[in-house]
Amino acid sequence: MLLEGLSRLEYRGYDSAGVSVLDGGSVALRKKGGKLAVLRDSLEDAPLPDEGAGIGHTRWATHGGPTDENAHPHLADEGRLSLIHNGIIENFAELRAELEADGETFLSETDTEAAAKLVGRAFRETGDLTKAMQQVVARLEGQFTLLAVHAEQPGVVVGACHNSPLLVGYGEGEHFLGSDVSAFVKFTPNAAALDNDQIVTITAEGASVTDFAGAPLEPKRFEVNWDASAADKGGWSSFMAKEVAEGPEAVANTLRGRLTDSGVSLGELGVLDEEALRGIDRIVIVACGTANYSGLVGKYAIETWARVPVEVDLAHEFRYRDPVLDERTLVISISQSGETMDTKMAVQHAKAQGARTLSICNTQGATIPRESEAVLYTHAGPEVAVASTKAFLAQVIGQLLFGLHLAKVRGTMTDEAIAEVVTELQELPDELRQVLSEQETVHELAHWMSDTRSVLFLGRHVGYPVALEGALKLKEISYIHAEGFAGGELKHGPIALIEPGQVVFVVVPSPRNEPLLHSKIISNIQEIRARGARVIAVAEAGDAAVMPYADQVLRVPLTLPMLEPVLQVVPLHIFALELATAKGLDVDQPRNLAKSVTVE
Ligand code: F6R
Repeated sequence: MLLEGLSRLEYRGYDSAGVSVLDGGSVALRKKGGKLAVLRDSLEDAPLPDEGAGIGHTRWATHGGPTDENAHPHLADEGRLSLIHNGIIENFAELRAELEADGETFLSETDTEAAAKLVGRAFRETGDLTKAMQQVVARLEGQFTLLAVHAEQPGVVVGACHNSPLLVGYGEGEHFLGSDVSAFVKFTPNAAALDNDQIVTITAEGASVTDFAGAPLEPKRFEVNWDASAADKGGWSSFMAKEVAEGPEAVANTLRGRLTDSGVSLGELGVLDEEALRGIDRIVIVACGTANYSGLVGKYAIETWARVPVEVDLAHEFRYRDPVLDERTLVISISQSGETMDTKMAVQHAKAQGARTLSICNTQGATIPRESEAVLYTHAGPEVAVASTKAFLAQVIGQLLFGLHLAKVRGTMTDEAIAEVVTELQELPDELRQVLSEQETVHELAHWMSDTRSVLFLGRHVGYPVALEGALKLKEISYIHAEGFAGGELKHGPIALIEPGQVVFVVVPSPRNEPLLHSKIISNIQEIRARGARVIAVAEAGDAAVMPYADQVLRVPLTLPMLEPVLQVVPLHIFALELATAKGLDVDQPRNLAKSVTVE
């Protein structure tokens, strides 16, 4: 049952897995680095007892690589308590130091083990797992779902959640907990989602829920009305839809722990320390596809803030054109999967030529970060749909953070200017939620345009990569011809494509922040409108000047120029998703493509 549930959740994380079941007076544990299949094989070779209560976890590594030791569950209380965890415990270093000072020995590098030890200790004091959990959640910062079993309370599983999902499944003589209903929908369709800051205790017979203070609560139950095969998308029609909706969390998680009151803290850069960064006189960003477009945004930000020349190259073009590199060049690779062969080869080539290397990557322990001198992880969470969406947002954020750090190191930005960007970065998750909640017009447009054969995208400055990304997403999943152009390039050729009825999305810069660019793009709009184009503008809220020139305006909240792409790209992602859906296409697995391009 545990393995079945885990296989449904594997899309969320797949680098290691483990289970614990109670076995008489102790807890039996089996956990393995690698895919769930590795754990399954091990259990087939040497089975664990298969009765009573148990917990299981499939991991997507954040703290500590995907090894057997770091896999969950983690044991405490001399092997009598077993605990699993989703999320990040931000104050784990403090808790760990305190526990170590008090004689505890840690077996893993995870943040989770500190929580396991605390719950184990609290159990010794209270003799009750629910009370123990109640004590411990008050000490944890960050976001978490925790589940625990204890050998002295067989048949009981206790869960707690804070800013991380936890659902209860109500069966006949059996009850379940899962981070989404897909974990148990095969066994029961009756479910309830816990609200924030709640604790649940389940036995075979029932489930009881309290708040963190212990006051009883009755969660609202619902019946899951989709079949088990759809459940692993967490109820969304596609992984892509789910991942677009996860954009705010992708951004928040990538920022988490890296912003201080006045700046950016990137202690993780290791050997690329301040001295090494001061020695850099040029940056080359290498990446493919969507990751490459995020690099184009990065170029504008890093050059403007840190005053270092930045080139952006397609990894495969870079690799085979004998680029000029030396130890004063920093090659930044950007990759969601960390396994893209073209990008990996580019990094290897850069290293062989003596360049410094930094990886911006979304997959802990992947090859590209391992081969680079330093890594800045994006924390978008696993991305399953072939078309990259939330990872793009996180890649832009990663580069903005690096740009600010470099600016500080090189003294090219004042503390006040950095603090202003930091404040705006912190606003982005909420602004993204707002954008996501206002997409009715995009849905209508996509349905209205389901027979369209060609769509053009136009942008300037950081809006140019957004235009390229909007076009790529549309090609990729709806198979419609789409092209992105820089606004200034129109008259050098592309304007010949404009004929009456041609739809053009225009990414409009802020009139407040960039009045000159704004007026230039308004001129571009007038030029294409005069030739019959139908213009859909993505513009800042309050930009009244664009209204008379656009057939439709999609609004995004006000932010700083370098941060605009994070908001502007979302309506374009949703447009591609909706249009492909309207055409009845498989948006998650478009033809001819794979999520990880591990061949050249
Ligand atoms: C487009 C898309 C691809 C990837 C590219 C690089 O939606 O997903 O263009 O961005 O294949 O992949 P990673 O980031 O894994 O190196």
